[in-house]
Amino acid sequence: MSNIPNEQTRWVLAERPVAEPTDATFRKETVPIPHSLADDEVLVRVDITSLEAAMRGWLTDFRSYRAPVQIGEVMRSAGVGEVVKGGKTLKVGDLVSGGFGWQEYAVVKESAVQKVDIPPGGSPIDEFGATGTNGLAAYFGITTVGQLKPGETLVVSGAAGATGSFAAAIGKIKGAGKVVGIAGGPDKVKFLKEEVGVDLAYDYKSADWKEKFIEEVGLVDVFFDNVGGEILDFVLSRIRRFARIVESGAISTYNTSEPYGIKNYPQLTKFSATLQGYIFLDYASEFPAAKKELAQWAAEGKLPRKFHIVDGVDALPKALGDIFSGANTGKTVVRVSKEALRFN
Ligand SMILES: NC(=O)c1ccc[n+]([C@@H]2O[C@H](COP(=O)([O-])OP(=O)(O)OC[C@H]3O[C@@H](n4cnc5c(N)ncnc54)[C@H](OP(=O)(O)O)[C@@H]3O)[C@@H](O)[C@H]2O)c1
Repeated sequence: MSNIPNEQTRWVLAERPVAEPTDATFRKETVPIPHSLADDEVLVRVDITSLEAAMRGWLTDFRSYRAPVQIGEVMRSAGVGEVVKGGKTLKVGDLVSGGFGWQEYAVVKESAVQKVDIPPGGSPIDEFGATGTNGLAAYFGITTVGQLKPGETLVVSGAAGATGSFAAAIGKIKGAGKVVGIAGGPDKVKFLKEEVGVDLAYDYKSADWKEKFIEEVGLVDVFFDNVGGEILDFVLSRIRRFARIVESGAISTYNTSEPYGIKNYPQLTKFSATLQGYIFLDYASEFPAAKKELAQWAAEGKLPRKFHIVDGVDALPKALGDIFSGANTGKTVVRVSKEALRFN
């Protein structure tokens, strides 16, 4: 136990935000690290923490697919870390993934973590890449929910983020006739064209993007929507007959106290279109096959490998804010431990 410090930093939910999280939303605490564990527990040093747009939903007490984080509870998150005090089957030095939360060390049941095998030269950050939550969400959204067919026009909003960039790339792999990305700012448009390989990309913060979209894109068969609100309303006005609107998420509404009123929903009737929401966990039984395919595409260089890396346990709330301000391109992760700083 000599290398394990006595105390650690963690972040707990202090109060529920009404709109955007503020400095009062999370409270930083310094607490002792338990040095005695139950037989079935291990102590993990948290190296990498994954940040998700969905975390904003976990801060609000409403009916959803997961219970909210409780006031005073360590903020929930997935992570990768190293076992620093072993259990029955896991040994010191084993790399594991699990729900470690916003803290430097986590006491977890051995049965609640999965051993992670990193190939030589690989990085544990890739646990949150193509085969992670966002890759899977994109995979099932484009295939099972969106039923994308070769030759069709696919539009993706929030396209330069973690989920969106995988959705756009999978659209290309699946033979879409045209893949169109929508994202904020010229750098993201460049990323989409040069690194994701979309055919057309639009900066929704520019004044004339809708006019250009109407002129250049034509009609839309599948809309993979991460943003909701005004962008969803606009794309609804552009759908083709039998279009599929895939509601991956509605990030533009997560920090607002008033819901956005969609005006163009009657288009669904006029064009016999469907709008379907889903949670990637709906398809858990199909994860092994999907991960195999995603890993294959990643190895072939067909999926983007782009991370927005933030350092230090202190930066966790700020890193979550980056997902909402759009400061991130690709997947947002925090290197929590100093040992993780070598991972890219
Ligand atoms: N259904 C599922 O199973 C599932 C699973 C994972 C994620 N998701 C959804 O996927 C979406 C993206 O989540 P993520 O974790 O992958 O985050 P992300 O895409 O890496 O980051 C979010 C991006 O959203 C954009 N954004 C933020 N506020 C916006 C606004 N008001 N209007 C337009 N764009 C805005 C920002 O890019 P810009 O610079 O382009 O604005 C930001 O980079 C979310 O809606 C999330 O709920 C769904």
